[in-house]
Amino acid sequence: MPSLVKVLGFAGSLRRGSYNRATLRAAGELLPEDMQLETFDLAPIPLFNQDILEAGPPRAVLDFKARLAANDGVLVVTPEYNYSIPGVLKNAIDWASRPPDTSPLNGKPVALMGASTGQFGTVRAQTHWRNVFVFTNMLSLNKPEVLINRARDKFDAEGRLTDEPTRQVIRNQLVAFGDWVRRLRGY
Ligand code: FNR
Repeated sequence: MPSLVKVLGFAGSLRRGSYNRATLRAAGELLPEDMQLETFDLAPIPLFNQDILEAGPPRAVLDFKARLAANDGVLVVTPEYNYSIPGVLKNAIDWASRPPDTSPLNGKPVALMGASTGQFGTVRAQTHWRNVFVFTNMLSLNKPEVLINRARDKFDAEGRLTDEPTRQVIRNQLVAFGDWVRRLRGY
C-alpha cells in the first residue's frame, strides 16, 4: 500500500453555487484511498497589503499558510475571469508567497482543475497559473488536465458533477497527482 498523500485543496470562487467549489467537492468524492483531501475556504483572506504582512499577517492568512505547510501537495481549482486568473485565488497565493524564504509554497507539488461556463474550460487561466508557479517555485503536474467546459451541462441543480467522462478525468488526475507527490517527496 503506498503511503498516504495529504493534499490541501481550495477553489477560487466565493459563489455559493460555484462550479469550481462543486469540482473541489467532486475531487473529494473521487479521491483514491491512499490520498487525503483537506479543503480551505478562501473567503476570510483579506486583500494583500504588504504593510499588514510586515505588521503581522491576519489569522486567516496564518491559518492558510499553516495548512499549506501541513500538507504534501496543493490542489488549486480555478475559475477563469477575463481570460485569466481570478483575483480571489491570486490574492491568496500572493499572501502565501511572502516572505519568500519561508513560503510554504516553495517546492510544493501542485495540481490544477478548473470549470467554466465557456467553451475552453479555464485553459487560459490554467496556462497563466503555470507561469505563476514558476516564481512561487511550485512543482506543477502537467497531465492529465482537468478542463471542465460548458459547466452548466455537467453539474446538476444540487451542484453534483454528473458527467461521467469528467468524473473519470478527475480520478485520473488525482491518481497521477498522488504518484507525482510521492515521486517528488521520495516516498
Ligand atoms: C467569467 N466567465 C468566463 N468564462 C470563461 O470561460 N472565460 C472567461 O474569460 C470568463 N470571464 C469571466 C469574467 C468574470 C468577471 C466572471 C464573473 C465570469 C464565466 C465563468 O466561467 C462562470 O461565471 C463560472 O461559473 C465562474 O466559476 P464559478 O463561480 O461557477 O466557480
